[in-house]
Amino acid sequence: MSESRIHCAALGAKIMTADEAAALIPSGVNVGMSGFTGSGYPKAVPAALARRIEAENARGQRFRVGVWTGASTAPELDGALAKVDGIEMRLPYQSDPVCRERINAGEMEYIDIHLSHVAQFVWFGFLGKLDVAVVEVAGILPDGRLIPSSSVGNNKTWLEQADKIILEVNSWQNPRLEGMHDIYYGTQLPPYRKPIPLVGAADRIGEPYLRCDPDKVIAVVETRSPDRNSAFSAPDENSRRIAGHILEFLQHEVKKGRLPANLLPLQSGVGNIANAVMAGLNEGPFENLSAYTEVLQDGMLEMIKSGKLAHASATAFSLSNGALAELNADLDRYRERIVLRPQEISNHPEVIRRLGVIAMNGMIEADIYGNVNSTHVMGSKIMNGIGGSGDFARNAYLSIFMTPSQAKGGAISCIVPMVSHVDHTEHDVQVLVTEQGLADLRGLSPRQRAKVVIDNCAHPDFRPALRDYQQRALAQAPGRHTPHLLGEVFDWHLRALRGERM
Ligand code: COA
Repeated sequence: MSESRIHCAALGAKIMTADEAAALIPSGVNVGMSGFTGSGYPKAVPAALARRIEAENARGQRFRVGVWTGASTAPELDGALAKVDGIEMRLPYQSDPVCRERINAGEMEYIDIHLSHVAQFVWFGFLGKLDVAVVEVAGILPDGRLIPSSSVGNNKTWLEQADKIILEVNSWQNPRLEGMHDIYYGTQLPPYRKPIPLVGAADRIGEPYLRCDPDKVIAVVETRSPDRNSAFSAPDENSRRIAGHILEFLQHEVKKGRLPANLLPLQSGVGNIANAVMAGLNEGPFENLSAYTEVLQDGMLEMIKSGKLAHASATAFSLSNGALAELNADLDRYRERIVLRPQEISNHPEVIRRLGVIAMNGMIEADIYGNVNSTHVMGSKIMNGIGGSGDFARNAYLSIFMTPSQAKGGAISCIVPMVSHVDHTEHDVQVLVTEQGLADLRGLSPRQRAKVVIDNCAHPDFRPALRDYQQRALAQAPGRHTPHLLGEVFDWHLRALRGERM
């Protein structure tokens, strides 16, 4: 154990191989895995479990487990288990292509839950029993406390709620992560809940380590494997224009006195456009910014490096290889400016409301009245999941959703008469942005919103069809408050599905 990160003798005695550890997981149990957007997920046990499932299947034995995580993970976890049809129920957020295919084929159950809800739902007993936790850590202290890895997610809850714990100690993770985390142990169940004592985005309210009952640990597996780091594409013309509209809007809000000069804490969603908006802010006029967000992508790291972003709070890193190398090379400096928290705190509605977060999230489509679909293509095919977008959108000071105005090379309009699936209602959406422009929906009635959304956000190729629909709905709908022609709204999507021009 000289090079080992395991400094607790009792836990050191439980070291075994991943295959031996996977053999301790029975069929039919619920397994809480660490992992959040490719960071801090267990690298060896899920793959060993997949091998075991494949062998059981070959013997004609059906073997499946429930897989609960922080959010999306990686091909070695979601992909490996989905490939062997080993997942009975998956929650809360995934973005794996094999998982997605199985879910949309009706072969895997999937529950898409607000990320801030997961931990409390487990505590409430709403999701059934959590049997086993499989959690990656960066090290184990002599007293058995755990140094968290590159994401925190739901690990605190998994370690507390599971009957049995399997730890993966990954020596690839930078040991200097120690001290970056803030694990809050003050959450209670109703009716005994107290306020979360976090009043500034950079506040530390907990402990740097995860507590763990050594008696529950059934296996410790040593690994040395990298996180999965997907590269971001360089900002294209559309994302640069979206970023430009948002920057202009934020400057306008400062001028109007509705935002301070250094804005309010920023939340930035997942993906290339969100990353491009951060790149835009990095070149923009704002200084001394802060972030209270879920994932910390390349753009935010770049802003910390440049000094634009004074500090950031998140639950996970989601970095490309280049950005990760930058983080690791200078981790002591970044540790002063970054806090990683459990996702029930990074996404906590009470805290988001208190801090006045500016939320910026991607979407699949929005309708002319401001309802947003973040999850389902053509109303039935899940893309990823709602993630934390709902936690932030409903409770933010400003809730912004963004997308290119068209998808599939211009065949599909991302502005539609009525969204084919609702994740964020018109009540939770204040600003819509496409490369065409920005629609500020605050203070507007549904009919007023429709005009602004079509004029400012829809692609010019689709504006005539949207205006035609809006005007006929206004003339013919039984109610004129939110005029819709219900017989027609879904025909819009059906025609798009058939590839017909509007
Ligand atoms: N109709 C049909 N397909 C559409 C579409 C539409 N209106 N809009 C997008 N798509 C397709 C794209 O063509 C692309 O398909 P492909 O993978 O086959 O190329 C896919 O959906 C993803 O679109 P893309 O433009 O690459 O989206 P993105 O990477 O910016 O992600 C979301 C957009 C909505 C999928 C993503 O932001 C998401 O999962 N959001 C929900 C979770 C969230 O907001 N988390 C952050 C909270 S902290």
